[in-house]
Amino acid sequence: MEVVIVPDAKAGGELIAEAMAQLLRRKPDALLGVATGSTPLPVYEALAAKVRSEAVDTSRARIAQLDEYVGLPAEHPESYRSVLRREVLEPLGIGMDGFMGPDGTAEDVRAACEAYDRALSAAGGVDLQLLGIGTDGHIGFNEPCSSLASRTRIKTLTEQTRIDNARFFDDDIEQVPHHVITQGIGTILEARHLVLLATGAGKADAIAATVEGPVAAICPATALQLHPHATVVVDEAAASELELAGYYRYSYAHKPDWQGI
Ligand code: GLP
Repeated sequence: MEVVIVPDAKAGGELIAEAMAQLLRRKPDALLGVATGSTPLPVYEALAAKVRSEAVDTSRARIAQLDEYVGLPAEHPESYRSVLRREVLEPLGIGMDGFMGPDGTAEDVRAACEAYDRALSAAGGVDLQLLGIGTDGHIGFNEPCSSLASRTRIKTLTEQTRIDNARFFDDDIEQVPHHVITQGIGTILEARHLVLLATGAGKADAIAATVEGPVAAICPATALQLHPHATVVVDEAAASELELAGYYRYSYAHKPDWQGI
């Protein structure tokens, strides 16, 4: 994988937004896989600025959801569908007709998971999947020890993830659902380009394990090592535990055919 160390979150956002813009110029109806959480917000802000300045056209772009809480009504402000509508679709000027996501309120959740997995393939697959990372190394909601070959399915959140996400639910962990639907790790690995963004010292251990640790389900993000085109963008704080940070800087600076990330 390629590791890019950026000075701060804003620079990471700019870099990834530019990669998305280049993709959309090449392929106007590209399917962008997006993540929730605080980390990707600078990406969406930078891409929205490009849309406003007409540096990129999103009129045919499509957006795919990574994961969702089970049981939260779609209109709940913290359902990931609502969050993505607010933070991604509206700022980018993309309507719900350009959006695909799993149904977290389905009576048959299992069938909804399988249907979403199939829909992603039928749509031609995700062109670029943006990922954040949990402090425990989860991607999407694939908690530690998720199968590295897993498909879209229902998962139970760890206590730590519910604690981490309580900030979106009035700091009340009781309001954080226990169950979620997440694209599986095998599903995520089918995207053509994986871009993981991590910022802040709280992610430093998870990033060191992801980039330099052995591939192991205990740290689901290590599955990125198996992907032919994975980019890990980290700020200085998130890079602070990387043994080979000097090499990643050198390698990126000497990239022979620089075409973005
Ligand atoms: C949630 C999401 C993940 C996200 C993670 C980290 O668990 N399901 O997709 O990467 O939070 O969030 P943050 O970026 O706010 O640290």
